Amino acid sequence: MHEQVLDLRKRPLRDLRISVTDKCNFRCRYCMPAEIFGPDFEFLPQHKLLSFEEITRLTSMFTSLGVGKIRITGGEPLMRKNLPELIKMIRQVDGVQDIAMTTNGSLLANHAQALKDAGLDRVTVSLDSLDNERFGQLNGRGYQVESVLKGIRAAAEVGLSIKINMVVQRGVNDHDILPMARYFREQGHTLRFIEFMDVGNSNGWKLDQVVPSSEIVRMIHEEMPLEAIDPNYFGEVASRYRYVGSDQEIGLISSVTQAFCSTCTRARLSAEGKMYNCLFASAGEDLREPLRTGRSDEEIKELICSIWERRDDRYSEERLKETPGLAKRSKVEMSHIGG
Ligand code: GTP
Ligand code: 5AD
Ligand code: SF4
Ligand code: SF4
Repeated sequence: MHEQVLDLRKRPLRDLRISVTDKCNFRCRYCMPAEIFGPDFEFLPQHKLLSFEEITRLTSMFTSLGVGKIRITGGEPLMRKNLPELIKMIRQVDGVQDIAMTTNGSLLANHAQALKDAGLDRVTVSLDSLDNERFGQLNGRGYQVESVLKGIRAAAEVGLSIKINMVVQRGVNDHDILPMARYFREQGHTLRFIEFMDVGNSNGWKLDQVVPSSEIVRMIHEEMPLEAIDPNYFGEVASRYRYVGSDQEIGLISSVTQAFCSTCTRARLSAEGKMYNCLFASAGEDLREPLRTGRSDEEIKELICSIWERRDDRYSEERLKETPGLAKRSKVEMSHIGG
């Protein structure tokens, strides 16, 4: 039997999001703006990254505390060498029910088969536009839409389950909402629209750049009628809608207008082995040092429990209430903990 650990708001620990690298081949403005993450930016050196053995050992401690869902993130996780090896190791951990990966898709075509063979269940591919010029600007490196679509096709061919994530920014890619909805409806992949969030300190977020999910639903519904459907599981981040008369669905991730902190069951592990309890945390708690100084599993599990049990985070709910001082708080960068 697995233990169940609850935080101060009675939320169980269920998901672990593991960042395997802080590097990315894209420079999306909202995540790694090129002027900050330039040629001189110092990414984590190899010796500071958790090894695959260390990640697997931690994963098995987390599953014994109630975690069943694992998500591999980055940066761009496919920038980490031999990633399928890690998937294979995590797959063998007792209690792991589901392994997903968040990726920008540009390197997926080459790795889809190996990832599937290693035991990956699902991929979530980020794509913010189907317009080549806009997409090239959004990713900051001129990557073409086709490189991502190729990755998505390869993932579908090898039988990985697929979702698409689109971050919507007013005045930037709101014109892409309908073309994206039409395209992925036809392709049979679930598209999720994410409200632009104030993650990190470098993306220059402003509230008027957020397109509320309700507006997106209205816009799509006018052309392709939608009906709300129930969540798949407790604490699902996306609200689901189905195209009337079909099984095809979309999701809305409304962290700004409809915060979902009350059911947040996610812990995050950075590539250097820090545990973060919230996407908007200012600091993480180091698990690498205890791993490398010979602490036992029991001791480290106790540490993880104490970190979770002290947890009181609910940043998005507080943002809704505009708690004074919130905006000025220093926050971890998205590229460090992968969303
Ligand atoms: P599924 O297992 O497919 O339901 O995955 P998911 O939707 O939980 O994970 P995914 O990484 O696809 O999440 C989509 C986006 O939602 C992330 O990239 C984040 O931008 C946002 N998100 C995920 N978890 C949280 C969270 O705990 N808080 C906030 N504010 N946003 C989150
Ligand atoms: N707001 C909302 N979503 C973001 N992502 C990255 N930065 C932000 C932000 N500021 C998304 C990416 C990807 C996932 C890792 O998080 O597009 O889908
Ligand atoms: Fe890379 Fe994803 Fe960040 Fe874009 S959002 S820079 S693809 S990690
Ligand atoms: Fe969880 Fe923090 Fe996101 Fe709220 S803002 S849902 S507490 S990660």
